This record gives sequence, C-alpha cells and structure tokens, in this order.
Amino acid sequence: MWFQRFLRTHLGRLLTKANHVVLEKKIPSLESSFQDIDEFGLYLHIPFCRQICPYCPYNKEIYHPEAARMYTRAVKKEIDIYSALIGDRPVTSFYIGGGTPTTMLHSGLEEILGHVFGAFDMRCGIHMESHPTDLSLDNLNAIAALGVEHLSLGVEALQDHHLKTLQRPYTVSQVRAAVERAVSKGFKCVNADLLFALPHQTYSELEQAGHALVEMGVDQVAAYPVFTFPYTRWEQIAQKEGCKSPGVLEKRRMLGVLERVFYSAGLERTSVWAFTRPGVPKYCSVTVPLYIGLGASGGSYLRDVFYLNTFNVGEYIKALQNGVIPIALSLDLSEDMQMAGWLYWRIYETRFEKSDFKRRFGKEFDRVYGKHMKLLSLIGFLEQNGDEIVLSDNGIYWLHVVQDLFSIEYVSRLWGTSQQDPWPDKVVL
Ligand SMILES: C[S@@+](CC[C@H](N)C(=O)[O-])C[C@H]1O[C@@H](n2cnc3c(N)ncnc32)[C@H](O)[C@@H]1O
Ligand code: SF4
Repeated sequence: MWFQRFLRTHLGRLLTKANHVVLEKKIPSLESSFQDIDEFGLYLHIPFCRQICPYCPYNKEIYHPEAARMYTRAVKKEIDIYSALIGDRPVTSFYIGGGTPTTMLHSGLEEILGHVFGAFDMRCGIHMESHPTDLSLDNLNAIAALGVEHLSLGVEALQDHHLKTLQRPYTVSQVRAAVERAVSKGFKCVNADLLFALPHQTYSELEQAGHALVEMGVDQVAAYPVFTFPYTRWEQIAQKEGCKSPGVLEKRRMLGVLERVFYSAGLERTSVWAFTRPGVPKYCSVTVPLYIGLGASGGSYLRDVFYLNTFNVGEYIKALQNGVIPIALSLDLSEDMQMAGWLYWRIYETRFEKSDFKRRFGKEFDRVYGKHMKLLSLIGFLEQNGDEIVLSDNGIYWLHVVQDLFSIEYVSRLWGTSQQDPWPDKVVL
C-alpha cells in the first residue's frame, strides 16, 4: 500500500509537474474554451438502470418514466446551451453511455437524439451501450432506426453461476439469444462486454466464454477484470463468496487466456481490454480528443479545461429548469497535464504516432518523452517503427497496471464524492 502511494505521488508529480490535482466548484469561461476547436465529440449520459449491480461504479439510479421525461427536457436545454457555443462546427463522434441508455428507448431517447441532430452538424454514426434484457427484436429495430451503428451489450459472463454472483437478471441462454439477435441486425460493430477475475472463476470457464462470443459472431469483445470501487458493494460480495480480488499476476494470466483465444480467432488488439475483428471500425467511447459531456455526470474535455456536471439527476434537472449550466467541478489543465493525459489515452489504445503529438502540442514527442520510451523499449514493453509506437502485450498490461494506480484511486475519489454531494466545494486527487 505504501509503495503504491509512493509511486502514485512521485510518478504523478514527474508527469504532471503538479503536487496535487484539485477540481474546484467553478464554472469555466466557456466562450474562450470553445475558441480554436475545429471539431467536437459528444458524450450523452443516461443515468437510469432497471436494477443496480453490486460492482458498478457508474452514476445511475433506478429508472422511473416520469424522471426520464423530466431528464429529456433538461438534456434538450443543455443541448441548446452548447449549440449556441459550437455554432456550425462539426460533431465527429457521438457516444451514448450510462447507466443503461436502452431504459429510455421509448421514453425520451428518440426526442433527445432528434434535438441533437437538429442542433449540431452531426457527421458521425452513434455508438451506444445497451442491456441484454432490453434487446427484443422490436427494440433492436428501434435502436437501428435511431441511427445507432455501433452497439455494445453488457454480457458480462457466460456461466449461470457467475451471472448469479454478478446479480445479472438473465440466464446464459437468454443472453446468447440477445447477442445473436443483435449480431443478425447488421450493425457496423457489435461489442460484448465480458467481466473476468470473478469469484472462483477458472481459466477454462474464461476460455469457454471467449470462444462462445467469437462463435456467436460479435465483432469486438471488451474484457475487463472487475475493479473494486470502495463505494460499491463488490467487496462484500467477494467476501461472502470467500475470496479476495485476484492480484495483478493472476489477472495477467487470465488476460493471457483471452489473448490466446482472440488472437487465434483472428481478432486484433484495439485497446488494453478490447479485441476487434480486422476491418471492423472499433466500438469505443468518444473518439476525438476534445468532447462535450451532456447529462448528469457528463464530463467535458476542452484542451485546457476539464469539467464535470453534477451527478445528481434531480439537481441536474433543477439547474437547467432555472437556466443554469449544471457544471459542478472544473480543473484547469496545465500543458504538462494535457500531455500526460494525451499519453495516458494513447497507451490505452496500445499504438500511436509521434507526429500526432507534434500536431497537438507543437513539440517533438521525443524531446518530451523520448527517454521514457527508450527505457520501455529496452524492457520489451514497446517497439518504435519510425513514427509509430506499438506496445507489446506485456507492455499493454503492465503499463496499464501503473495507470490504474492513478485512475482507480482518482475515479473513486471524484465519482465517490460526486455521488454523495451534488455540488462539492472541491475534490483533491
Ligand atoms: C454502463 S455498463 C454497460 C451497459 C448496461 N448498463 C449493462 O450493464 O449491461 C458498462 C460496462 O462497464 C463494465 N463494468 C461495470 N462495472 C465494472 C467494474 N467494477 N469493473 C470493471 N468493469 C466494470 C461492464 O462490463 C459493463 O458492461
Ligand atoms: S452495470 Fe449496467 S445495469 Fe448494472 S448498475 Fe451499472 S450501468 Fe446499471
């Protein structure tokens, strides 16, 4: 524990040149932050679910049709605020996440999307998360009719006893049928989320789940080890099952099992946790570096500022009813922080081009990070082929373990505080 704290503090300082990162209760000057940005990504958060899973860190509450209707009106007001700021600049990436976006399929989602397409110059298809129990044939038709081209399903496990531990409200045969219906609909990419490092999970169960997803014809699998967030009920569930969360070496071995299954099926690595069929556009969150987050807990990243909406759905609605932008916290980003953030996401994507960094920051990548890359190349974590840097499987995993030292702790503090207090004075990371 002390070693993790030591590494977090020192590595954090080395990369960001800041002692502490502090998000404050203040509204950034949006007019100036929006200048000089040519294109935007959009993220829309739907904070409703039909049940609350014990491991889930995301911002959500139980779905009620009336709350969904009020939320729809509020999101449309927030869209109007941003439409005035963006003008006719294009939106080139659109992601709808949650919670569970498909809870609002018949209670506001269509109205919100109509408003988005009316307000912005949309030059992209939609990526959307869905819950397997919402995917009847009629609902899949409605989803496709909304313009969703890339659909993700939270499959999570393909053994009934693991689905039971996760408290997922379906059986393996039901989720298989939902995946098969989604695959046959002709989306550009169908992604299945799979969780591993579950209590008492064996390598052969994991191997079997990986093979089954490939055979069902999904285009991409995103396989995550279950992360324990202190404000969820997962720790208690694991204890009740009589087991501790597996360590990093055990998780590496489990991921190795999946790597073998997916590589032998011809899938390619497209992020730390995702494997995609070649030639298929990968399913992922907002794909452009600068984006606006709509909805309760939506986060926006605009070059030199990051800000976050209130997490509380009632407060989010109230703010917009009063004509107030629902931003709760913001953080001015120094250039060192922006560069560290850029590198974080490029490592997550497992390969990148150094010239992209030059285009973004006007600096040679090698002058800023050349020494670090040489060291990582010496220990076999990456290869440099001219302009391109490609991480090895070991590099992808172990560098991400280091990233997790920050991200799990930071997310726990930021989201944990924001879920308790709609308008925190500050959050120190
Ligand atoms: C917003 S949910 C997906 C959509 C829908 N709400 C559902 O559960 O089917 C996003 C994904 O995050 C992953 N996830 C949730 N909690 C997690 C945790 N504690 N650790 C790792 N992954 C997690 C799951 O794979 C889940 O499918
Ligand atoms: S995992 Fe999905 S369905 Fe479960 S609580 Fe989280 S967002 Fe809701």
